[in-house]
Amino acid sequence: MGRLEDTGKRDELKRLGDVDPGVFQAEGHRVVDWIARYLDGAERYPVLSRVRPGEIRQALPATPPSRSEPLETILADVERVVVPGLTHWNHPGFFAYFANSSPGPAVLAEALAAAFNANAMLWKTAPAATELELVVLDWLRQMLGLPEGLFGVIQDTASTSTLVALAAAREAVRGLDVRRRGLVGQARLRMYASEQAHSSVEKAGIVLGIGQDGYRSVPVDAEYRMDPLALARIVAEDRAAGWTPFAVTATVGTTSTTSVDPVPAIAEICEQERLWLHVDTAYAGSAAVVPELRWILAGCERADSLVVNPHKWMFVPVDLSVLYTRRPEVVREAFSLLPEYLRTPEESVAPNLMDYGVSLGRRFRALKLWMVIRAFGTEGIAARLREHVRLARVFRSLVEADPHFEVSAPSPLSVVCFRARFPGTGAEEEDRRNAETMEDVNASGDAYLSHTRLGGRMVLRLAVGNLRTEERHVRHAWDLLQRAAAKRR
Ligand SMILES: Cc1ncc(COP(=O)(O)O)c(C=O)c1O
Repeated sequence: MGRLEDTGKRDELKRLGDVDPGVFQAEGHRVVDWIARYLDGAERYPVLSRVRPGEIRQALPATPPSRSEPLETILADVERVVVPGLTHWNHPGFFAYFANSSPGPAVLAEALAAAFNANAMLWKTAPAATELELVVLDWLRQMLGLPEGLFGVIQDTASTSTLVALAAAREAVRGLDVRRRGLVGQARLRMYASEQAHSSVEKAGIVLGIGQDGYRSVPVDAEYRMDPLALARIVAEDRAAGWTPFAVTATVGTTSTTSVDPVPAIAEICEQERLWLHVDTAYAGSAAVVPELRWILAGCERADSLVVNPHKWMFVPVDLSVLYTRRPEVVREAFSLLPEYLRTPEESVAPNLMDYGVSLGRRFRALKLWMVIRAFGTEGIAARLREHVRLARVFRSLVEADPHFEVSAPSPLSVVCFRARFPGTGAEEEDRRNAETMEDVNASGDAYLSHTRLGGRMVLRLAVGNLRTEERHVRHAWDLLQRAAAKRR
């Protein structure tokens, strides 16, 4: 082939490959600059997106482009169309659900993980991703004061971690052999969690064939913590009625109020009754990094499994949930399935993390946790969490000092539940005015709060969890709330 033809062939192949490396580099620099400005100035945007349903969809072409488009044009559309449709979780006024953060080191880790495209399904397909995951989860275990020997594995979300844990619990039921025989026509299994447990527990029951009838809610005390005496009574009642109780999920840091179930007493019952104890500490577990908050995980060393989400309160962006277990062999029994095409010579000496969950392919999530822990240090993480708890206390004392408001639950961590009072109105009307007050504040663009129901009544929640939230943001949210509620008096 002549030289000219050679060059033509190379150009043709280039067109079939990736974008030009020079273009990638130039646009990459611009994106990093943009992200740096964005993270530093997320406050410039309204925290809650102002778009109406369907608006973003309408602004986007309904059919894909047949010809290549320049990266520059695509990125311009991200800013023009996508950004206005975002609710900014990185905004320091984000106080809804469990606020969280996307710090610089984690953003860089996500970019690197995408570049490596390492699929940590087998040790062999990603040795560094697998081993870094094992190491960083052992670091995290130490940071939380959990016992040595716990096995940790990263899942996408707490919902998946809890599903995997309860699948293992089901596998551990003697004489059932669910893995082989399935559940149809077999024992009537029952599992338990408090009335305040997250819906992911019940959902796991639905997925696992336990069904909603196989899930029982345990009453809580006046501080929204599971009542262990009620648990013991319900388990006995169920056994007498022919059910097979098999698992209890205790929550350390419930979604509505962050209440902490009495894990030591629950562990006692689980040991006596031979029930698998799973602890859902998706949000609150991170608090154990702070020495004076370590009490939060008391008794958790007795749990069979525990889930904690660094993507909630440890400055790692979604998604990264960690499932710890004392019984990895049971999780493996439940999930390992090894067709010939996944066999490797190393399988007897190195773990294949696909064996501990539903999905085969696994993103290199450990990198972002590793980079955040290194960039902040354990003391830096503890200091940031401590500050969030202080900010929640500042907010709580503002609520307590105002007779037009009341706090609705204890606030052991960084969430405050409260409501505005509208004396002289009925419960329904008062709830409605609280909902309107919240909507008003959320429409301001400066703060975003969410709500829950406690004792049947509407309650507002302010959750501190973003790295960039300062006292001025909390005080501003309070001013907005006071003004919005005053308008309705
Ligand atoms: C206590 C608790 N468990 C589980 C979850 C579910 O988390 P994920 O979104 O990671 O599935 C939440 C979410 O807020 C939660 O608060």
